[in-house]
Amino acid sequence: MNKDLITMDDLTNEEISSLLDDADRLLPAARGEEYLPLLQGKLLANMFFEPSTRTRMSFETAMKRLGGDVVNLGDVKSSSAVKGETLYDTMRMVDGYCDIAALRHPRQGAAQYAGDACSISIMNGGDGAGHHPTQTLLDLFTIRQAFGRLDGLKVAMVGDLRYGRTVHSLSHALARFDCELTFISPSQLSMPEEIIEDLTANGAKITVTEDLLGAIPDADVIYMTRIQKERFPDEDEYTKVAGIYKLSADDLAGAKGEMIILHPLPRVDEIHPDVDVTRHARYFEQAFNGVVARMALMCKLLGVGIPGGDD
Ligand code: CP
Repeated sequence: MNKDLITMDDLTNEEISSLLDDADRLLPAARGEEYLPLLQGKLLANMFFEPSTRTRMSFETAMKRLGGDVVNLGDVKSSSAVKGETLYDTMRMVDGYCDIAALRHPRQGAAQYAGDACSISIMNGGDGAGHHPTQTLLDLFTIRQAFGRLDGLKVAMVGDLRYGRTVHSLSHALARFDCELTFISPSQLSMPEEIIEDLTANGAKITVTEDLLGAIPDADVIYMTRIQKERFPDEDEYTKVAGIYKLSADDLAGAKGEMIILHPLPRVDEIHPDVDVTRHARYFEQAFNGVVARMALMCKLLGVGIPGGDD
């Protein structure tokens, strides 16, 4: 396995499947039903230069549930970044302090840069509008939990496909498992052309549309996303597309019974709370699965075997 997880290209399909198997075995530890101190003595650096609730907390939960410990960068405004310290220098310090690091940064490419600067493993927790591969691991885990497989599913991705890093990483991974992808967005927020070209060159079956309601009956998975207000160059452009897709329980009448709705969260108004009580809603389970996915990843990167696993 590569030293770092920067994009899904760092993992083979076999490595993904193995991580998901490991994540499954770690469910009792993630739920606190079993104490499994596999990472005792290990220290995780949580380096979040952008806001986060789930990614930061689930990394911390994962490390602590496995007996390890965590140091946090904390509020960026209280760090020496405000004195002008470079990301390179900051990460060189972390390389000495900790055994592994999760990094979220507003600049696309920052995780690769940090990975090159460090000898410890860097896990990309989101780099600008680039990638979010640890989110993809938990998304894949949740999909496999629901269907027992990843192969051949029909997955609709909805909302901000331009700036949404979760869908950039997830589309690459699902295409490798022969899923059919439907990209649903207004034209201003369409999936970047280079990603579509890359997916198509690799044989992915892709449909592009603006019609969410029309795509519901055929979908196995509907992956909703928030419009990424913070990435728009100007507020007027955001206002034009804000609130463009709002899924409510009434919209789901024609959906397949087993169809699941995912969302990386946080949501704003894309999913009405009345969807939460339908059989289709899986986004809170999905957020919980961030703990097992990140447990499995840290064990693998730190070379720690999981009881019942391959190594
Ligand atoms: N899904 C996700 O990345 O959530 P946070 O921004 O809260 O970490």
